[in-house]
Amino acid sequence: MATPIIPAERTEHVTYAIRDIVVVAKKLEASGLKILYLNIGDPPVYDFETPQFLRQIVIDKIAQSNSGAALNVSTYCDSMGISQARIAVAEYATAKGIENITPDDVFITSGASEAITLAIAALVNPGDNIMTPAPGYPLYSGQIPVYHGELNPYLLNEENDWQIDIEELERRVNKRTKAIVVINPNNPTGANYSRESLLNIINFARRHNLVVFADEIYDKLLFDGQKHISIAALAKDVPVITFGGLSKNYIMPGWRVGWAIFSDPTKVMGAYREAVNKLLRARLCAPHPQQYMVAPALRSDDSHLVSVMQKLTRRRDLTFQMLNAIPGISCVKPAGAFYAFPKIQLPPGVTDEQYVVELLKTCGVLVVHGSGFGQKPGTNHFRIVFLPDEATLIKAYELISNFTADFYKKHNFKPV
Ligand SMILES: Cc1ncc(COP(=O)(O)O)c(C=O)c1O
Repeated sequence: MATPIIPAERTEHVTYAIRDIVVVAKKLEASGLKILYLNIGDPPVYDFETPQFLRQIVIDKIAQSNSGAALNVSTYCDSMGISQARIAVAEYATAKGIENITPDDVFITSGASEAITLAIAALVNPGDNIMTPAPGYPLYSGQIPVYHGELNPYLLNEENDWQIDIEELERRVNKRTKAIVVINPNNPTGANYSRESLLNIINFARRHNLVVFADEIYDKLLFDGQKHISIAALAKDVPVITFGGLSKNYIMPGWRVGWAIFSDPTKVMGAYREAVNKLLRARLCAPHPQQYMVAPALRSDDSHLVSVMQKLTRRRDLTFQMLNAIPGISCVKPAGAFYAFPKIQLPPGVTDEQYVVELLKTCGVLVVHGSGFGQKPGTNHFRIVFLPDEATLIKAYELISNFTADFYKKHNFKPV
């Protein structure tokens, strides 16, 4: 008999709850259950469109490309990305108040995901750790162990609109901590960090010689006229890598366009940057044609965001009202992005994953369990994506409400 191929142990603990739960949903769908997908932050799945002028740029570049043409997007390009995209990202960073950024400080990747993964790969040695927000986007907690780094989650403060608690950071940091991840606006909580929170993080990073990983992929998706502050704009003497991309702000996750910006005011990242560059060269380049969208997108008037934010605001408000009306569920109002992270009281011994799977099996509503993002021990949550239209959301919240009442009855549990 043929010998089975054994995968590396390092992959054993790689989980990504947002997609792992879909495996269960697909099976149920195959057996005839209609699924309401509220699990993945993919705007064009719903009624949000990639701006036409951006698509046209790629269509034209591809149509004009051939082996004799002056510009041929079928070729590999510079490992750091095409220069016009890097110039535009540097301009964007400057406009956000990040000082002394040149195109050489920017690299373009296949989504922010690739930039994040490379930044982790080039930084951690076995036993080092990176502080990650809990709750937070699970790419970080999935990738750090692949490079034999340790996870070091810090809890966000739900009682204070999910802001960052400086005492919590000081409790968690240790000698092997090399970086702190700040996701702003946060996925899954939707929190937009205050200037004070960001200054606290900078002081903390300075005290402990940390690199700040600033994930700002949702920076243009803020409600109620709030402004986004890039932490790198406040960091005058602390190294920051800011991750961004077109996926969310420009409604094109599948095009895979992201970037990272090195801000290094005290010039401490030289060797680290070269390590990242080596990894960039080894993987050749990010997809070439779609990099031509970066400059026109970042230099546009962002008029597409008017209707995006109108729709999202109505859906956010509806989500906030309907979830908070369900006995046993409470939800902080998201300030940005398109996620809500409600807390749910559960009977003793029942996990949020069990609740979510039973909700899915009973009424076909797919949300993601809070433990997939990290949460305070003893609390339970789930994440909802409020991208679907209002009728779909209303239906989903009614189903969640009825299901939760029945679930409590079945377990003889009364929420307080
Ligand atoms: C916080 C955060 N960072 C990064 C990403 C990945 O972005 P990209 O599509 O650019 O790889 C996501 C995707 O959901 C995210 O929520």
